[in-house]
Amino acid sequence: MGGFSAEEKEEMKAEAGIAACAFVKDGMTIGIGTGSTVKYTILELGRRIREEGLIVAGIPTSEATEKLSIEQGIPLVNWSECSALDLVIDGADEFDPKLHLIKGGGGALLREKIVAEASGGMVVVADASKQVDTLGNFPLPIEVNRYGWEQTQRRIQAICPGPVNRRGTDYLTDNGNPILDAQFGPTISDPVEMEARLRSISGVVEVGLFTDTADVVVLAAPSGCQMIRKETARL
Ligand code: A5P
Repeated sequence: MGGFSAEEKEEMKAEAGIAACAFVKDGMTIGIGTGSTVKYTILELGRRIREEGLIVAGIPTSEATEKLSIEQGIPLVNWSECSALDLVIDGADEFDPKLHLIKGGGGALLREKIVAEASGGMVVVADASKQVDTLGNFPLPIEVNRYGWEQTQRRIQAICPGPVNRRGTDYLTDNGNPILDAQFGPTISDPVEMEARLRSISGVVEVGLFTDTADVVVLAAPSGCQMIRKETARL
């Protein structure tokens, strides 16, 4: 985010992360996202549980989030106990005017998508640097199967105008899979079509395009938080 100090950026993340907690009510079961913005949501939920007696349960989208949630005293449930979530609060790497998202910068996209699809609504916490006209400047994370990942990379490369690089030779997600970062540049004008196209490639486990998923973006700016709500928002 150009023009802001690291401290100011951190303050904005904290503001968005905390403001999103207004959607969380007693008795809800929520998806808990991953990243440096949602971290503040988790801390605030922990505070509300301790100080205000908030009753809530959560499903985390990564091992890192699971650890922090446990430290904060947030009761967790698993998929054998729960089939639907009231809402999920999660971060994003980019969002466009229709609230289509790129996610997965932290490598948690598969769990994040499973959780988002089970949720009755999605609140995205973001700072102004994530707002774009057309998705793709942020390299699109794609989780792939370890078997034949080089061939999967070639097939993605055939439709991606820029390089498609494996994220670190040793990097594996919480699910044990590599990530390929595909540098489309700001060219993803039809994210719905691109998500389907990439998902149709054998070897692709999940794509970091989240289309028609987010309902509200809680956007942090120096002047405070702004809520950007989709016309068809469920929340
Ligand atoms: C995790 O895989 C991602 O989808 C994050 O939600 C995303 O990268 C946003 O993270 P920050 O809030 O740290 O920017």
